Amino acid sequence: MSTVQTEKKQHWLINFLNSTIGRKLLMALTGTFLILFLFVHLIGNLQLLIPDNGKTFNEYAYFMGHNKFIQVVSFGNFFFIVLHIIVSIVLTIANQKARPVAYAYQAKNPKSSSASRQMMILGSIILLFLVMHLAHFWAKSKFGGLTEIELTGGVKGHDLYAATVDVFKQWWIVAIYVVCMIGVAFHLLHGFQSAFQTFGLNHQKYTPIIKSVGIGFAILIPFLYALIPLVIFLTN
Ligand code: HEM
Repeated sequence: MSTVQTEKKQHWLINFLNSTIGRKLLMALTGTFLILFLFVHLIGNLQLLIPDNGKTFNEYAYFMGHNKFIQVVSFGNFFFIVLHIIVSIVLTIANQKARPVAYAYQAKNPKSSSASRQMMILGSIILLFLVMHLAHFWAKSKFGGLTEIELTGGVKGHDLYAATVDVFKQWWIVAIYVVCMIGVAFHLLHGFQSAFQTFGLNHQKYTPIIKSVGIGFAILIPFLYALIPLVIFLTN
C-alpha cells in the first residue's frame, strides 16, 4: 500500500473517531460487547447456586481461567470496558464544549442532556462497583489468596466458590451489590435505547420486538445478578 493510501486511511479513521456519530457508534459497539459479557458472566455465576458445595462452579472457574480463547476474550473485555469509559468522557466533554454557557439558557434538548448526565452518574457508580468487585474476586483469583483444592481428575484448582461465599456473608456487601444492580438496570435501559438509535434500527414489525427484548434484558439480568449474593447470604 502506498504512503498516500495509508495517509488517506488514517485521515478517514481519525475523522471518524472525531465525529459525534463515530464516537456514538463506538459507545454502542463496545456497549453491545459488554452486554454479551454480562449475559455469559451471569450464566457462569448462576452455577454458584447449584447445591454441590461449589464443585460445578469451581470446575467452571478453572476452565475459564485456563482456556486460551477465554483469555483472549477476557483481554478484549477489559479493553472494551476502558474504551467505553474513555469515549463516554470524550463525548461528554465535546457536548459541554458545544454548549459553552451551561444551562444558562434552555438547552436544545433538555431531555437528552439530562439522560446523558444520568448515564455518566450511573456509569461512575458501575465503575466504582467494578473496582470493588475485581478486588474481591478477579484479583484474588489471578494474584493469589485462594485456597487450593483438588478438582476432577486430580487437577489442582482454586476454591473460588468458598471465597465468594465468604464475601457474600457480609450483609453490607450484599446491600452494595443489590443497589449497584439497580444502577446497572437503569444504565442498560437507557443504553439499549441509545444503541438502537445509533444503529438506526427502524423496522415497523421488528423494532418494537427488539426494544421489548432490550427492556426485558435490562430488568431480568440485573435482577438475577442481585439474586446471587442474596441467596448466598440467606443460605450460609
Ligand atoms: C452477583 C454477581 C456477580 C458475581 C457472583 C460475580 C463473580 C465474579 C467472579 C467469581 C469473578 C472472577 C473470575 C475469575 O477471575 O476466575 C468475576 C470477574 C469479573 N466480573 Fe463478576 N460477578 C458478578 C457480577 C458482575 C457484574 C454485574 C459485572 C459488571 C458490571 C461483573 C464484571 C466482572 C468482570 C469484568 C470480571 C473480570 C472478568 C475477566 O477476567 O475477564 N461482574 N466475577
